Amino acid sequence: MQVDAAGTTARMTHPPADVRLEPAVPADLPVVAALMNHAYRDPEGSWTNEADYLSGERTSVAMLRAEIAASPEGRLLLWRGPAEEGGGLLGCVWLVPEAGARWYLGGLTVEPGAQNAGLGRRLLTAAEAWIAGQGGRAVRMTVVNVRESLIAWYLRRGYAPTGETEAFPYGDDRFGVPQRDDLAFIVLQKPL
Ligand SMILES: CC(C)(COP(=O)(O)OP(=O)(O)OC[C@H]1O[C@@H](n2cnc3c(N)ncnc32)[C@H](O)[C@@H]1OP(=O)(O)O)[C@@H](O)C(=O)NCCC(=O)NCCS
Repeated sequence: MQVDAAGTTARMTHPPADVRLEPAVPADLPVVAALMNHAYRDPEGSWTNEADYLSGERTSVAMLRAEIAASPEGRLLLWRGPAEEGGGLLGCVWLVPEAGARWYLGGLTVEPGAQNAGLGRRLLTAAEAWIAGQGGRAVRMTVVNVRESLIAWYLRRGYAPTGETEAFPYGDDRFGVPQRDDLAFIVLQKPL
């Protein structure tokens, strides 16, 4: 992920024009971490929250910084509300190029108070358009296996299981403390 230390990177204008994605700068990381923790782990947050099976925080500024350092080609993209409404963070997404013109998509998040009004769909579409604008031909993601309503949401967006699974990092509580012992990640993919 590349964060523009100067904070001067021009906004990206890839379609769709109704969602303008811009790269995060270091000063954005506290609000991004707060948004993700609220959306993923607060039982009063998203309709997709993980609170029933993962406790603790989803991320932190230090973890976001570490992910940035580990994937210098990655991009943390932000969607802000209109300036006349304060320009608050509406959503974010983390994109990393992989082999063969495929990109990993993770951390897709919409401000909980604005969810279930089509913003998630628009943000995902904008992220896919951004990837296509970089020459990407496919999107890959991993989703915790027990998140049935979220998986159904992605299936309705054109994603399909590849049949692969990845082990949940039991014993590494940086991403939260699992409350059950049958968690794994399933891999979803979509051609662009
Ligand atoms: C996943 C997420 C981005 C979706 O954002 P959103 O703005 O709510 O999405 P939309 O408004 O576009 O879509 C809402 C859809 O969910 C459905 N929905 C709403 N509440 C639901 C519920 N309790 N159970 C099942 N489906 C539900 C709606 O009917 C609608 O369906 P459709 O658009 O497919 O017809 C958002 O919930 C989020 O930020 N979650 C926390 C972070 C997360 O888990 N991200 C995924 C990482 S892999």
